[in-house]
Parts: sequence; structure tokens; C-alpha cells
Amino acid sequence: MAFIVFEGLDGSGKTSLMRELTKQLDGLNIAWVETREPGGTRLGDEIRELLLRQGSEIPHPRTELLLYEASRAQHVETFIRPNLGQKKWVLCDRYSASSLAFQGGGRAISTEEVIWLNRFATQGLQADLTILLDLSVEISMKRQKNRQIQTSQPANHIKSKNIAFHEKVRQSFLDQARQEPNRWLVLSAEKSPQELSLELHHELRLRRWLFKRFYSRPSGGL
Ligand code: TMP
Repeated sequence: MAFIVFEGLDGSGKTSLMRELTKQLDGLNIAWVETREPGGTRLGDEIRELLLRQGSEIPHPRTELLLYEASRAQHVETFIRPNLGQKKWVLCDRYSASSLAFQGGGRAISTEEVIWLNRFATQGLQADLTILLDLSVEISMKRQKNRQIQTSQPANHIKSKNIAFHEKVRQSFLDQARQEPNRWLVLSAEKSPQELSLELHHELRLRRWLFKRFYSRPSGGL
């Protein structure tokens, strides 16, 4: 099994690429579950609602960080670890790297504090691979606008932040990827879904993760 996380600016196509990977895994008879943060558990979904609901009180950056971490702690203990324990691949839309990027990079909470809280919430559980769908802020905002028009949903307080905020978020993701190249794969989210799916497939074969079922995680124990 493997724990794979998808990260990127809003509108980067994480959900579509996750779907593509689930098709590849199905073709190989590999068991998987997909999940997301904030969310992934009942309590986590309630926290998501609190965080992203329109018109609610805008949380202070520290409050916001603690809510994301609370959702993460519940998610790791009651969903992610049990599924990895059952030898399933866990595909997760956002994880601790998002807190470093949005609350650390974007909201300027110190990196050390975010890293400490991430470690506390996850009890050290790291993704085997984090796939960053890298996208310029300009295109990300255009895609979000189009999505809002299609779904007639107004942006939440994070999505409606300014360009400088999203630039910092993007830079933080890229810095994190540079610091741990073995744990990250950076793909250009401007490519077509087919190209992205092929690139991911190629990477997982290079890592020899798609040749056989895993009986232990590529990066070690749970
Ligand atoms: P999503 O729209 O990709 O599901 O993510 C929800 C929003 O939450 C998105 O704007 C990014 C934000 N977020 C954080 O700010 N910090 C976090 O730790 C996580 C997981 C998400």
C-alpha cells in the first residue's frame, strides 16, 4: 500500500488526477480509498463546514490552523492509519503540506509552529508521495472564477484572498517539494488530464509501486 497526497492551488485539477489514479489501481486489482482534508471523517466534515461556510465569522489565523489540525488528527487516527493497516492505498486530497503552504506561507504563521502542529496531529505519519499540481496564480484564479460561474457558488474566505497570498502559497509548495525531492513529484497543472495521468503512471512504475502489491509501505512502517 502507499499513502499518496495531492496538493496544489485551488483549480489545479487534483480531484481529476486522483480519479485517474483510482482507474489505474482498479486495473491492477489494488485496493484503495480516497479522502480529503479538511474532512475525511464525520467530525472532519463538520470542521470543514465550519471553516469554509459562507458568511461565518472569519477565523483568526491561529484558530484556522488549529481547526485544520484538529480535522487532521481525527482523520489520521480513525481513517488513514486503519486503511493503511488494511493494506489499502490511501489517496488524499490535501494534507499537512497545505497547512504549511496556506497557514505558514499565506497567513505567515511561523514554519516551526506549523511543523510542530503537523507532527502533533499526524503523530509523524508522512505521505509516501506528495504530488504537487503546480499552476500559476493567474490560471488558478481564472479556473476558480469559471467554476464559481458554473456552480453559482461564491468563493470562501481562503479562495477569495488576493494574488500575493496565493503566490506565497504556491512558493511554499514549491519550496517543500525542493526540500524533499524523493517524497514529492511536481507536475505542471497546465498539461492535459491525459498527459498528467501518463506522467503519474510513469513515475509510479519508475518507483516500482505499480508492479506488485505492497505488503509494507515504501517508506517504512505505519
Ligand atoms: P479544497 O477546496 O482543495 O478541498 O480545500 C479547501 C480549502 O482549505 C482550500 O482553499 C485550501 C484550504 N486548506 C488550508 O488552508 N489549510 C489546510 O491545511 C488544508 C488541508 C486546506
